[in-house]
Amino acid sequence: MLNFTLNIPTKIIFGKGEVDHCGDLVKEYGRKVLLVTGRSSTKKTGSLSRVSESLRAAGVEFVVFDQVEPNPRAETVDRGGQIARDEKCDLILALGGGSAMDAAKAIATVAVSARPIHEYIRGNKTGLWKELLPIKEALPILTIPTLAATGSEANSSAVITNWETKEKSGIAGPALFPRAAILDPELTYTVSADYTADGAVDMFTHLYEGYMTGDESANVQDEITEGLMRNAVKYGKMAIDHPEDYNARAHLLWTSTLALIGIANAGRGGSFPVHQIEHTLSAHYDISHGRGLAILTPAYFRQIIKKDRPHRLARLGRKVFNVTLDDDAAACEATIEALVTWYKEIGTYDTLKNLGVKKEDLKLMAEETIRVAGLGQNTIVATHPLTADEVLRIYEEVFE
Ligand code: NZQ
Ligand code: ZN
Repeated sequence: MLNFTLNIPTKIIFGKGEVDHCGDLVKEYGRKVLLVTGRSSTKKTGSLSRVSESLRAAGVEFVVFDQVEPNPRAETVDRGGQIARDEKCDLILALGGGSAMDAAKAIATVAVSARPIHEYIRGNKTGLWKELLPIKEALPILTIPTLAATGSEANSSAVITNWETKEKSGIAGPALFPRAAILDPELTYTVSADYTADGAVDMFTHLYEGYMTGDESANVQDEITEGLMRNAVKYGKMAIDHPEDYNARAHLLWTSTLALIGIANAGRGGSFPVHQIEHTLSAHYDISHGRGLAILTPAYFRQIIKKDRPHRLARLGRKVFNVTLDDDAAACEATIEALVTWYKEIGTYDTLKNLGVKKEDLKLMAEETIRVAGLGQNTIVATHPLTADEVLRIYEEVFE
């Protein structure tokens, strides 16, 4: 196991009805709040009213910023930051999915620095992020997730897209850890089958990325990961079949938080190449993050992991999908098949062509993945450094 430092400073309040007490929590952290949320779902589902009511009852002053789009954009963040400054907000409260929570973290950053968020985005052409990351100053942040997927509610990163330059990449730093998060599984009952499935795939991918690429002697972390993967698979399907099953939604939400809170990868390390390859797809075609991951994963497993670390893929299959084959090569194929079966059951099995991606863009996107995520190298970090050609072959395999 590698040496590690693990800091999980976010206070987590979990359970049914907890959202109705958010006003009292918010009051502990700030005087005037910018409530950052998406454009429509929190109004339709009533969660925005519930939060607003609780804030009013607690006597907290607040301003609503409801302009965050899925795959949140830099210009939206900059607008939110300006409003936070103009309104003299001293706290940012996120209500929504990963997009609202990520935008909230980015808004908390620009509200303090008054710099455009693009300067902080890794891979941007000016390279300013090299001096601005990690982010050490931001307004305090609280989160209320309404969708189980990203783990953004209790981690210190956010993913923002510059739509003009087609750069989607992460920002991170200690100041972005939410001070507290209210995880109320009932808020996720209304998430559509499509987004529930995409979320289950996202948390599953957060788990397998480090498992495949990290240090191989961290057995505690591996077994935590395997347990969480089993829960993502089981409760993802259950939540789609029974959207208002509290137990399914609660397990899925807690799995998503635990998957990317640092515990699984502490002492194991690892990299997130499939995420980087997917972010280029979302940056160019604005597709759902989880759906892109589901499309890419079988090709990544076949082309990269089956060759570099077949024993890890075989182990995943044995521990998560009950693969019983002793031979690693055969177990790898059975694992990919079992994964595809799960993707089909939950409706995420798809092709790039079907999502509207044009074949002539694949080469450019492979090169962009390296430019944005390669940190100045000609490769991205994985089990071995992946070149643009290798990324292109993954895109090609799942094109149609
Ligand atoms: O946009 P609104 O109107 O809010 O509706 C959303 C959106 O259309 C809707 N939704 C959310 N909660 C709902 C609901 N609909 C009904 N009932 C509810 N309770 O669902 C749609 C998708 O929401 P979004 O927030 O975009 O989804 P998700 O949570 O999957 O977040 C995706 C974003 O997070 C980033 C992704 O790249 C993407 O930009 N990620 C963030 C990470 C992090 N901060 O650690 C890590 C991840 O790997 C990921 O990259
Ligand atoms: Zn993800």
